[in-house]
Amino acid sequence: MATATRVGVLVGPRRLEALVKGNPGPRLAALLQAGREAGVPLFFFTLDGVDMDARTIKGITPAEGWWQEARLSYLPVLYRICAVAEEQRPLFAAFLSQLRRRGTVFLNYPWFMDKWETYRCLVNTELAPHLPRTWPIADPAEVLALLEEHPQLYLKACVGGRGKQVLRVEKLGRDAYGFIRFRDGLARGKLHKFSLLREIQGFFGARPIIAQERIDLIQVNGRNVDLRAEVQRTAQGTIHVIAIAARIARRHSPITTHSVSMSLENFSRLYPSLLGDYRAFAARAEEFLCRVYAALEKCFGCCGELGIDFGLDCSGGLWFIEANSQSAKVSLFNSCPLSLIIRSYVNLLEYACAQAAQRKALD
Ligand SMILES: Nc1ncnc2c1ncn2[C@@H]1O[C@H](COP(=O)(O)OP(=O)(O)O)[C@@H](O)[C@H]1O
Ligand SMILES: [Mg+2]
Repeated sequence: MATATRVGVLVGPRRLEALVKGNPGPRLAALLQAGREAGVPLFFFTLDGVDMDARTIKGITPAEGWWQEARLSYLPVLYRICAVAEEQRPLFAAFLSQLRRRGTVFLNYPWFMDKWETYRCLVNTELAPHLPRTWPIADPAEVLALLEEHPQLYLKACVGGRGKQVLRVEKLGRDAYGFIRFRDGLARGKLHKFSLLREIQGFFGARPIIAQERIDLIQVNGRNVDLRAEVQRTAQGTIHVIAIAARIARRHSPITTHSVSMSLENFSRLYPSLLGDYRAFAARAEEFLCRVYAALEKCFGCCGELGIDFGLDCSGGLWFIEANSQSAKVSLFNSCPLSLIIRSYVNLLEYACAQAAQRKALD
């Protein structure tokens, strides 16, 4: 392995507090274990701990079974495990540009991925046939025009997560429209044109949105099923699919978030007719995911890990849904042995060391 490099982990204030109290939660516990196994020191900090003038960071590092506070100069590697509050975004942007100038290695993309930018990236590649048609929406009235041609559409904020910014709309008849969403519970309704426009406006506010054709996802007992993969680059430079989980939506829900998830293998055992031969399907999915990962890196630069949502339609087609730069790995933890998850973090940290060594050599 390349020489160990200290990895800076940017977390939110509540997570830092929990760490200090000895409650890392499953994700950070796995990362800490991986740090010990890989011999890579981790340094946890919040944006408040960054002194941009002195270019130092106040944070904590594991030491002799507990935590030690420290102030360090900027680190060669950044891993972000938090959302950045609206009011801190300008500060975060300035911090990132300082880091970019120093050639910092970003283990994951430091911003949430924008769904429209992601589409624009992939639509110009040989992956285009795997993308549901997607349009940027400047004015909700454009949705009405699109519904004439595509009776069911997914509307999504360009930046959002956990299905909170997803609204499915459909045209039911002359001046009759349906909407359905899942945010603090399922809500659905039948509306006239102007009420639908108000619903869209009220739901998304001023956020930029996209409209997307509905994918005819496979179903289990009338519930949509989609797939979530955790994918990473190894220190040796190959792309590795850690695991794929199948997620089954709640009844009537347009999204599969907050639902049941299980490993693809278990899913295939429970519903053997849906995927066909498990090994053949897994190989096809992995090949698809590696192509997606490589194509995204071409647009947005190299990264150590991505969570990729994708789907299988009723005719056997694979569809890209979205990529997540900061995956909460909920399905991974639901469906995989802990040892495999820790192994994947060890890989990530080894990738970090290899990248940092490469940059150093270029200096
Ligand atoms: N075009 C689509 N057709 C069918 N289902 C979709 C489509 N887009 C999204 N979904 C469903 O909605 C879920 C959330 O959408 P996604 O694009 O992943 O947004 P989020 O950032 O909220 O996770 C997906 O996991 C999938 O189940
Ligand atoms: Mg998603």
